[in-house]
Amino acid sequence: MEKKWWKESVVYQIYPRSFCDSNGDGIGDLKGITSRLDYLKELGIDVIWLSPVYQSPNDDNGYDISDYQAVMEEFGTMEDFDEMLAAAHKHDIKLVMDLVVNHTSDEHRWFVESRKSVDNPYRDYYIWRPAKDGKEPNNWGSCFSGPAWEYDPETDMYYLHLFSKKQPDLNWDNPVVREEVFQMMNWWLDKGVDGFRMDVISLISKKPDLPDGVPGINGYASFNEPANGPRVHEYLQEMRQKVLDRADTITVGECSGVTLEEAKKYARSDGKELNMVFQFEHMDVDADGTNKWSDKKMDLRDLKEVMTKWQKGLEDIAWNSLFWENHDQPRCVSRFGNNGVYREASAKMLATCLYMMQGTPYIYQGQELGMTNVPFENIEDFRDLDSINAYYELTGQGVFSKEEMMRFLRYKSRDNARTPFQWNDKENAGFTSGTPWIMVNPNYKEINAEEQLAREDSVFHYFQKLIRLRKEHEVIVYGTYDLLLPDSKEIYAYTRTLGEQKLLVVCSFSAEQVDFEIPAEFLKGEILIQNYAGSRVPGMDGLSSPESENVEQSGHMTLRPYEAIAVLL
Ligand code: GLC
Ligand code: CA
Repeated sequence: MEKKWWKESVVYQIYPRSFCDSNGDGIGDLKGITSRLDYLKELGIDVIWLSPVYQSPNDDNGYDISDYQAVMEEFGTMEDFDEMLAAAHKHDIKLVMDLVVNHTSDEHRWFVESRKSVDNPYRDYYIWRPAKDGKEPNNWGSCFSGPAWEYDPETDMYYLHLFSKKQPDLNWDNPVVREEVFQMMNWWLDKGVDGFRMDVISLISKKPDLPDGVPGINGYASFNEPANGPRVHEYLQEMRQKVLDRADTITVGECSGVTLEEAKKYARSDGKELNMVFQFEHMDVDADGTNKWSDKKMDLRDLKEVMTKWQKGLEDIAWNSLFWENHDQPRCVSRFGNNGVYREASAKMLATCLYMMQGTPYIYQGQELGMTNVPFENIEDFRDLDSINAYYELTGQGVFSKEEMMRFLRYKSRDNARTPFQWNDKENAGFTSGTPWIMVNPNYKEINAEEQLAREDSVFHYFQKLIRLRKEHEVIVYGTYDLLLPDSKEIYAYTRTLGEQKLLVVCSFSAEQVDFEIPAEFLKGEILIQNYAGSRVPGMDGLSSPESENVEQSGHMTLRPYEAIAVLL
């Protein structure tokens, strides 16, 4: 397997609006980020992925861009950006920009022109169609509820928006659009940024006839309908030639609706397209069929099946990205772990389970503290248009009651990940001296960075150690993955193998004790990391529990709730 720096790096995602506010307006900003680089350095990450900071009317918190070459005023100035970039580089941290080019804002000057008339030079920058039988041109739904088409009286036609109606889709089949995007990307590369995370890049190429899809619970076909379209790989190869190959970049494509076969093309190891993709199959293990709005708990066997499919499926062919969280997902302790007494144990276990796999790790801000979902009380507590629209659409159509929908939102809403970063136990968790744009999670007095930095056995220090271990042992980065115990409902265990090096990872997803037999060969091993003090593995090095001395050497182990252990041979 070819060694690459981006395979050995750990990426940290910053959602700027919620990270750190430097001027008391309640909104996180670039100067705030610059002031916290020492913290990130201490954690040990190599790369920052910055969610969008471009000029935007903020219909979708910056994922609706009105000028790709200007900074959102609320976040600061271009000088602030340059300072932040220079300071990050000084800390030896790379910076990845969020590239949102499936769509722009409807306030982007291209769209303002495009909607004026059918012969405007910008008309063909977007996807316009006449009505079909007096209605929308097809049955596609927006990701954020309702149809994916908006009627525009000016020219008596509809435009396509797979996201909100303030996010019209660009027409990538128009070569002029592609040139505009590539030029803009080159402008950022010239500034010195180190790569791009590409927002819903799997959706950019639409089938020319825009065929209907299968309707979901709200009557519309999924916004994912155009995923992996006919020319997407051609466009990415063009981007590789005209932009990405000009520098030693790191690239990750957000590929909703991606299949294993498609991912092998996007993240092909010959380097013709992207370095890696985000796939989302493991984020669907607790969906209700194709509907994400549910509070169903996952079955661990499903999670293992999906993760294993991707670990084995991309082996030697492409490269995985490892994530449990991002700004679109709820908090993983609340979702796959335990919010109560085992919060810290389960946050550490989940990190062990994921970051010992093959792929580039992504940590979402606050995950390294074990931040949790938020006890939102009313629909008015939410800021995310996805959550708000879904609430009104699905309760309005009678698909779910208000109580049900609030329960689902508390479990799955994107706002669970978007409340302010918890820096300390002072007012507003030290995020702002003003009024935060979204409520602070009331548990900040207990869960915050200051407390965890000062405590050796904190989740923060555990993440720090996991990151360090990846640097010290190549088997964690490059080893081959093999699943053990596929049928266990409680234990996720696997091995990694690289030449003579062998690693065993054992994670309990249960709040009860569970028995586990360590494979005999690993009894000679060394414990690399564990989330409880004293592992109770009889006879094994690194063991500190006193009762073990009298126990005969055997591989029997009783895993405590959410226990995790990694053993290196
Ligand atoms: C991606 C982003 C999400 C955004 C959407 C539209 O999925 O991660 O936050 O709402 O694309 O840009
Ligand atoms: Ca601010």
